[in-house]
Amino acid sequence: EKGGYASFMLKEIAEQPKAVADTLLGRIDTEGRLRLDELRIPDAVLREADKIVVVACGTAFHAGLIAKYAIEHWTRIPCEVELASEFRYRDPILGPRTLVVAISQSGETMDTLMALRHAREQGAKVLAVCNTNGSTIPRESDGVLYTHAGPEVAVASTKAFLTQLVACYLLALYLGQVRGTQWGDEIQALIHELARIGDEVEHVLGTMEPVRALARSLAGKDTVLFLGRHVGHPVALEGALKLKELAYMHAEGFAAGELKHGPIALVEQDLPVVVIVPSPRGRSVLHDKIVSNIQEIRARGARTIVIAEEGDEAVVPYADHLVRIPVTPTLLQPLVATVPLQVFACELATARGNEVDQPRNLAKSVTVE
Ligand code: F6R
Repeated sequence: EKGGYASFMLKEIAEQPKAVADTLLGRIDTEGRLRLDELRIPDAVLREADKIVVVACGTAFHAGLIAKYAIEHWTRIPCEVELASEFRYRDPILGPRTLVVAISQSGETMDTLMALRHAREQGAKVLAVCNTNGSTIPRESDGVLYTHAGPEVAVASTKAFLTQLVACYLLALYLGQVRGTQWGDEIQALIHELARIGDEVEHVLGTMEPVRALARSLAGKDTVLFLGRHVGHPVALEGALKLKELAYMHAEGFAAGELKHGPIALVEQDLPVVVIVPSPRGRSVLHDKIVSNIQEIRARGARTIVIAEEGDEAVVPYADHLVRIPVTPTLLQPLVATVPLQVFACELATARGNEVDQPRNLAKSVTVE
């Protein structure tokens, strides 16, 4: 049933191009417009929404953090992202024009379920982004956008995460489409890019041998840090979470701009630091800033593991290890940048003798609050 792979996790990592393609299937029409007829939330409600609140846990929360960038950029609707376990205790401000998006692979996560119940009691509309047909979270929501990752068996979420991102991009682009935002042309171009992103993921998967070798060489380390900016920040958080849960190592993700406000004190000789570098095209300010961050940590002894776009030469002098990812629009970069981090965590955990499909103390679906 593992289809020749040593673990479900490896199998599920390899299935990502298909999972991404399946999640897009039937949702882009021949004119390149999005069709999300299944949503069950009328376009009129989506047009009226004045605030979006994403609630989720763990990896799904990281997908939500990335969704915020896409939603706010393409729709100009303010978007908040909150850990489901914190949401209702804060007495959040919700109303009939609030669209709450609950992201959950299993559809059974109690924290997320309680958050969405609270949102509906306050009159908000709830849309579930979910991978499990007919599970509790979509059943209790007003509408649902299913991810089509197929069953995810390994406890650590991989292919479900990529499809959550795809679903969130689809939702953001769809909101842009129905609301007719100023980004009309960009939205068309992005839909086109999304349609080919599965091939880019496949390409990344074919280049992972050096990442595996690097991971094995770090098996004796205690700590790995992850840095990113913009959408690279949630990617850093996700890379750190994967390493914690699989390799049982101390791993932390930071916004690179926060380094100087504290975390840089952690940097010492030979500390591995993974840096997710935004594209040098487009928002080049971000790129220049992160190159300075890489220089700063390297000057303090860090061993830099740099994840950067093909053709980005500016990072080369400061990268102890360089991992190339394909050129993609900035907002879609997490789809390709996350893959090396999954492979890295899986290989490092295996090298440490851990059982990757069933990490200690964890369950696939967390049905208690
Ligand atoms: C991490 C992981 C967890 C889940 C979280 C939410 O690899 O799998 O952090 O993402 O427990 O689960 P779902 O998406 O089922 O609500």
